[in-house]
This record gives sequence, C-alpha cells and structure tokens, in this order.
Amino acid sequence: MDNPCGISTDVDLLREFERGLDPRRPERSRIPARILGYGEISTVFEVQAEGMRGLACKRLPIFRDGAEVARYEAVYAEYIRLLTEGIGLTLPPHGHCAFLDDAGRPVFYIVQQQLPYDSIGNRAIHLLPRSEALSLMRRILGELRRVWAFNRRQEHLQVAIDGQISNWSIAGPAALLYVDTSTPLYRVAGVEQLDTELFLRSAPSFMAWLLRWLFLKDVVDRYYEPHRVVVDLIANLYKEQRADLIPDVIAAANNFLAGEAAELAVAPIAEREVRDYYREDATIWRLYLAMRKVDRFIRARLLRGRYPYILPDEVKR
Ligand SMILES: Nc1ncnc2c1ncn2[C@@H]1O[C@H](COP(=O)(O)OP(=O)(O)O)[C@@H](O)[C@H]1O
Ligand SMILES: [Mg+2]
Repeated sequence: MDNPCGISTDVDLLREFERGLDPRRPERSRIPARILGYGEISTVFEVQAEGMRGLACKRLPIFRDGAEVARYEAVYAEYIRLLTEGIGLTLPPHGHCAFLDDAGRPVFYIVQQQLPYDSIGNRAIHLLPRSEALSLMRRILGELRRVWAFNRRQEHLQVAIDGQISNWSIAGPAALLYVDTSTPLYRVAGVEQLDTELFLRSAPSFMAWLLRWLFLKDVVDRYYEPHRVVVDLIANLYKEQRADLIPDVIAAANNFLAGEAAELAVAPIAEREVRDYYREDATIWRLYLAMRKVDRFIRARLLRGRYPYILPDEVKR
C-alpha cells in the first residue's frame, strides 16, 4: 500500500510473516522478528526479510472486524494529521496497512522508518553527558508545549500526548521525532474519538473491569493534562534508571513552566508528587503485565488456544 507519508508497506510480506509468527518467541517465527523495543502496550520489531530491513513494525491484533479497523484507521490518520500539520511535531516517515490473517482475523500494522537504537530518548539519557541529558528533557518539554498551546487555541478539540522519554528520538541538534502514534487520543467536543475499549482487549478479560476503571478514570485523562504529562515524563526517569537526574529535571521543568510556558498556567512540579506517582504507576503496569501472563497461560496452555500478543519477558523498573 502506497502512502503519502513516506513508507509503503508490503502487505503480502506482512501476511506471510503473520502466517509463521510465534507470538511467544517472535525471534523464532518462520520469518523471524528482531525486537526493537517494548512499550507498555505494544511490541515493536523488525521483520527479518528483504524489503523490511530498516523498518520498525508495530502490530495491533486487537480488532474484531473490518468496521473496527476502518474506524481506528480514520482516527489514527486524523491524529497523525493533528500532530504534524496542526501542532508541528515531526514524526519519522511512516505508513500503515490492515489485512485479514489466514483465520480471518484483522491485523493492523504501523510501519515506521527504524531509528537508531541510541537515538531513542530512554537509551540516549544513558549515553549523553549529564548536561545534554538535561537539555534533552528541556527539548521534550518544548515539543509538549506545542501540543498544549495548540489545545489552548481550540474550542472543540483537545489532543493528548504521551510525553515519555522512550517516545522521542533525537534526529539532530534541533530535531526530535515523536514515535508513539498507536494510541491516537483526541477529543472532539469532549468526546474521545478512539474506542479505548480496543486497548482493553489486549488485557485479560478477567481484569477488564479493573482496567476499565483505571483507563477511563486515570490512564486516558492523564495524557490530556499538562501537569500530569510532565510528572509522568519525570517519574519515568525512575523506570529508566536515571533517578539521579530527577532533582535537576524538576528544577528545569519548573523554570520552563514559569517562563516560556507561563501562558499555560501549569502548576509547578513537586518532588514528592513525582515519587508518589511513580510508585502508583509502576504498580499498575507491573500488575497489568503479570495478569497478561496469567491470561496467556490460561489461553495458550490450559485452553490450548492461540494467544496473539507479544509480551516482554521482564520490564526493569
Ligand atoms: N521507529 C522506531 N525505530 C526504532 N525503535 C522504535 C521505533 N518506534 C518505536 N521504537 C521502540 O519501541 C518502543 C515502543 O514503541 P512505542 O511506539 O512508544 O510503543 P508503545 O505505545 O507501546 O509505548 C520505543 O520506546 C522504542 O524503543
Ligand atoms: Mg511508547
């Protein structure tokens, strides 16, 4: 499928990849996949085949039928348009496609240009000198400000963003690329355009009630609120094993919020709040992953069914 945004996706090859995919050990699939990174929800990989090298694939096996895929695709495309043309963020060249696997199940793939491992924020903060790591955090805040300034100019539209450090890639001294586009959250007249239930599907049904509560009450809202996005970005440094940066990053963030971003009137960040937030957040995601593994065990081993999701082994926090 040709795509105006730069990457054309080879549906036949992806279909062939799906045919031999071992979600439990993607690197041992018939066409192997090399894992590039794990998010909280998705797994990103390179398909080891001619024509797919140098690309990053994000696989979403969460749809029940074509209508759901079509709806998601429209929301995804509009989110991309808002982020780029509306807000002025830069994304890596990308494309997407959807198809039915051999069993008739829809799969949606986002394909992006693969960015160097060391350029991804959570890796870069371990390689850069301290002052550069801090300036990376300031640059991220600068990009986030574009989103919030855009939202302030809107009457009926609000765009959410996940500012976490692992969602940014350093593309040059003045350029950051935003990679995390698979959860296209924006609201029109207060109405969420994405069917967030889709993302509960990747969770065990026995904990959908818990997640529904978490998602609706907390996890989704937080991406719309500048203060919480900044707290989340900073708290993430615990997970990324750079808690030593936190006091300086808080100072830089408060400086930014009181200076350049003053018109947004975002309350300053307190260290205590970052710590408490992280403890709670780590608990949520640890529980979520543990439950998904229980679910995988039940579905794949006990019920001898097919478990479609690729899960990380262990996430260091
Ligand atoms: N285009 C890309 N090139 C290289 N690595 C990528 C790319 N996109 C994502 N990744 C890696 O995969 C991780 C998860 O991707 P992301 O899109 O943020 O998914 P999630 O929604 O699950 O957080 C990133 O933090 C990064 O390490
Ligand atoms: Mg991410």
